[in-house]
Amino acid sequence: MFDSKARILVIDDDLSILDSIRLGLRHNPAYLVDVCEDPREALNLLNTRDYHTVISDVSMPGISGLDILKHSSEINPDLPVILIAGYSDTDMMSKAIHYGVYEFLKKPFELDELTVTLNKAHETYRLRIQNKRYKDHLESLVKQRTIELFEANSKLQRSYLNTIHAMINAMEVNDIYTRGHSERVTAMSMRLGKLMGLNAEELVQLRIGALLHDLGKIGILSNVLSKEQSLTESEYNEIKQHPIVGARIISPIGLPETIGKIILQHHEWANGEGYPYGIKLKDIHPLARIVSVTDSFDAMTSQRPYRRILGTKVATEEVLNNINRQFDPIVGKVFFANFRHVHGIVKDSDAIRELFQEAF
Ligand SMILES: [Fe+2]
Repeated sequence: MFDSKARILVIDDDLSILDSIRLGLRHNPAYLVDVCEDPREALNLLNTRDYHTVISDVSMPGISGLDILKHSSEINPDLPVILIAGYSDTDMMSKAIHYGVYEFLKKPFELDELTVTLNKAHETYRLRIQNKRYKDHLESLVKQRTIELFEANSKLQRSYLNTIHAMINAMEVNDIYTRGHSERVTAMSMRLGKLMGLNAEELVQLRIGALLHDLGKIGILSNVLSKEQSLTESEYNEIKQHPIVGARIISPIGLPETIGKIILQHHEWANGEGYPYGIKLKDIHPLARIVSVTDSFDAMTSQRPYRRILGTKVATEEVLNNINRQFDPIVGKVFFANFRHVHGIVKDSDAIRELFQEAF
């Protein structure tokens, strides 16, 4: 823009002034001069051409120099406007300052005075545009870097979560008692969560939290997890640590806090007799209350080393019988009322596959 001559617009209804400025600047290598004696046409020129500086008379018929200044500051606030006045009027000057006038020139003025003011205005405009471009460049750079960082972070999170998912699968495959448990709990939790009116964001958090709820069992020896005899106190204490261990594993990857709470609180009971912290219903996250029901239901309806499998009808009644003791009463009742729909998905392998294709 500044490699070639700077284009100046001079507006005055007095043709002799226009002529003298045009002739005065004719041989100046820095400027191309457009002159305009009709202020209405000048407004059109401002709308359609790029100017570097505007010089305008203040007193003109119909449209004043202040109108020109106001219009110019609206379409290009960086464009310097020099006003020429044959008189000093405080009111006019304060309005002009309010609209961002660059400089006043009092008639009559010498060509040298005009050239000096013009050079200063042109340099100001050049610096304003340079700063603006630099700022725009910085903003777009920050924007670009933020997008790249966000994408890299999301990619990292996805790959981390996929690895954890694979580890859970590997852990469960080796244990006939828990095989497919996390996926069934996730599928049922999603059905139950939808019935409870969760929004899209909460459903995503529920899905990840439910899938990872037993992540902390990774560190527990499989002979403890699948032990058929009663557990010793220290073995049971070790198992009771798995919600804490799981929440600790995911803490560095910056997932929403809710996911950590699902993992940490899925064994807490409404009456405070659960683990690891023995907190009561009001302190248990609503999404953890959902996983608590589906996790327990799946445990009851799956073969476990320490007790025999329960039928779905009996297990559903168990959920109802334990509301307020173990389970949230609303979650428990919604589950009881809709258990065929909620439980039905665990037998629908296509629906489960679809759910896990979009898992992360
Ligand atoms: Fe668990």
